[in-house]
Amino acid sequence: MVKILATGGAGFIGSHVVLELLNSGYEVVVFDNLSNSSRASIERVARLTNGTPEFVEGDIRDAAALDALFKAHDITAVIHLAGLKAVGESVAHPEQYYDVNVAGSTTLFNAMLRHGVKHGVFSSSATVYGEAEVMPMPETTPTGPVNPYGKTKLMIEQILTDITSIGPGWRSMILRYFNPVGAHKSGQIGEDPLGFPDNLFPFIAQVATGRRAVLNIFGDDYPTPDGTAIRDYIHVMDLARGHVLAIDYLLSDKAVDNETPVVNLGTGKGSSVKEVHAAWEAACGFDIPAQIAPRRAGDVTIYCADAAKAKEMLGWEAEFDLAKMCEDHWRWQKGNPEGYR
Ligand code: NAD
Ligand code: WQD
Repeated sequence: MVKILATGGAGFIGSHVVLELLNSGYEVVVFDNLSNSSRASIERVARLTNGTPEFVEGDIRDAAALDALFKAHDITAVIHLAGLKAVGESVAHPEQYYDVNVAGSTTLFNAMLRHGVKHGVFSSSATVYGEAEVMPMPETTPTGPVNPYGKTKLMIEQILTDITSIGPGWRSMILRYFNPVGAHKSGQIGEDPLGFPDNLFPFIAQVATGRRAVLNIFGDDYPTPDGTAIRDYIHVMDLARGHVLAIDYLLSDKAVDNETPVVNLGTGKGSSVKEVHAAWEAACGFDIPAQIAPRRAGDVTIYCADAAKAKEMLGWEAEFDLAKMCEDHWRWQKGNPEGYR
């Protein structure tokens, strides 16, 4: 059996990726410091699948812990999801983002080099793109992240690409996610933000359970049909399947040594904030209080993926629509109003 290391595998996206890997016949070791997650997600993943993920608690900045892990496990490829991901926090504490994301990733890649692990899949983000002239955005869109979080993502992309380009037998892939939402259909695992939820889906979910009073719609004066900003929301299970296909690809003879293709994972279809709000009300079957508020600083009008390369290279296409994203996210939130706690 092929064994995959998932750093950050206890987190929102990681737990769904681990589930999908196990269901596809891979063995999985999760390495996570639980700074933004809990062991409960891994326990639930184990219950939802036939396989059991192994769990190692540790920090990607800890070279000795990584050495011990790579000595104890015969790892074929690494899916690197561990990191910090809050845009606002990255503006307030850039030093933490450069430390955890950039220094942590470098420490991880060095450990892979020491132990002869030559395949890496990196969780990047559409946030690495700059102002786009073409919409939907292909992978060739010029990069130009505007906040420290996005800058760390682009730096890690460059570091992995450079290491892959010279390491004998190395093959890697960069996945740029658009807006991951939803949850596994069981309602057993999902997104569990600590503190105040910055993102639209977790915020609406907490208004729906009564934890928050009202959804603030940030701006209704954008140049879009209903005036609210448009994003490419993608179901986390579609995203998870994309990772399995990325690993399948890297282990196949289709992959080319020393290359690190960049692949967008999005649906290619944008939805406005008002459309998302309406889809949530339909999924819940009741009204969700909302009010128009000023624009949020730093927001762009529209972000939407051109996902043609994922289809061509990986045979991947998003299956789930906005209604299913809301329905599954709501099932998770309703059953776990306080997340895993
Ligand atoms: P998450 O916070 O739920 O998961 C990240 C995991 O990494 C957590 O379990 C956390 O405990 C762990 N972690 C953090 N620092 C660590 C460290 N130093 N050592 C070991 N583990 C550490 O976030 P997520 O939404 O699942 O995101 C996963 C990855 O996908 C991140 O790299 C994120 O930047 C990227 N991404 C997320 C989104 C999104 O909107 N959720 C979009 C694009 C890209
Ligand atoms: C979506 C839309 C808001 C909350 C972020 C990161 C990005 C990536 C994905 C990691 C916007 C509006 C939101 C609310 C609202 N993450 N909104 N009321 O900003 O597209 O992307 O997550 O890589 O890097 O920046 O997602 O969910 O925050 O916002 O009206 O309470 O919803 O203004 O138009 P965003 P989001």
